[in-house]
Amino acid sequence: MIVLGIETSCDETGIALYHTKYGLLSHTLYSQTEIHNEYGGVVPELASRDHIRRVIPLIKQALKEANICLKEVNAIAYTQGPGLAGALLVGACIGSALSFALEIPVLNIHHLEGHLLSPLLSTPSPTFPFVALLVSGGHTQLIKVNGIGEYVLLGETVDDAAGEAFDKTAKLLGLDYPGGRALAELAEQGQSGRFKLPRPMRYSGDFNFSFSGLKTAVSTLIKNHHITQQTGADIALAFQEAVIDILAEKSLSALMQNGLSQLVVAGGVGANIQLRKRLVRDTTSIGATVFFPEFEFCTDNGAMIAFAGAMRLQQQEINYQHSMSCFTVRARWDLEML
Ligand code: KG4
Ligand code: ZN
Repeated sequence: MIVLGIETSCDETGIALYHTKYGLLSHTLYSQTEIHNEYGGVVPELASRDHIRRVIPLIKQALKEANICLKEVNAIAYTQGPGLAGALLVGACIGSALSFALEIPVLNIHHLEGHLLSPLLSTPSPTFPFVALLVSGGHTQLIKVNGIGEYVLLGETVDDAAGEAFDKTAKLLGLDYPGGRALAELAEQGQSGRFKLPRPMRYSGDFNFSFSGLKTAVSTLIKNHHITQQTGADIALAFQEAVIDILAEKSLSALMQNGLSQLVVAGGVGANIQLRKRLVRDTTSIGATVFFPEFEFCTDNGAMIAFAGAMRLQQQEINYQHSMSCFTVRARWDLEML
């Protein structure tokens, strides 16, 4: 079975072809970062328009790279939500139209399910059950994953997502949007210990997070200091250390409290090298293992959607439609509702 995955929930158009026997056949991606850069954030209308421009050429390219034709595709999987409604509609339209024309099933995939299953695209891959730390631009959640579609939310951010905090802090430091990666690079030149930032909700006794206070603390530091390159790097490092401390500590206690020994990290912030190093060290110290997606599958991509679709298809879930007579998107969609 070959599944065509379509991801258009935010500012990346991602397409992939996944074979249930041979794995990932191809994937293509167009990132709109440059389009939104000058606005300091994603402009939904521009995002939708660009998805329309990119989606068909990217599908053609993915088919070419996989050396197959459209008629060989057995099912379509598209991101139904959560995300930007207009952007989601592009993937939903094209996915449903292709399913109608080719008379094949179409599966509506939850974006976060795509993220949290993405480490299963790599080898070695985790086995169920595991704890997933989902750290993206829009979400920060700890989830107990018992199987496909069996997700128990352990905790989540009460305000900003970790990626959002990285982006907002990066902006305060004068870095371009999305600034997570640039901030991490700047932090590499930082001196540890010069600034100490709070660890919000460290002792909250639950698995919830709060990151908006950190951004405010950084803003105060910036107001009170002359920002040279070195000071900027020192602040970036202090911020990154605070976020990593909290993510690592809460992930470890989620593992221990649930008696599990596998941690899966998914979402854009999962590309952060220092977070990876810390989680490898901490999980090893308690005899547990941490799994990460390949770097290219940390941020939004079509492969994770094609893969989640393939998993759903193999489970023979009947939650897919055969026609485009009705389809909808869900800008807000709780993962636990799956
Ligand atoms: O998962 P993703 O592509 O988007 C959502 O679904 O939200 O994650 C994007 C987020 C952005 O906030 C970006 O700044 C952050 O991931 N990010 C990073 C790094 N690379 C991407 N944050 C910290 N360190 C990185 N290396
Ligand atoms: Zn995402």
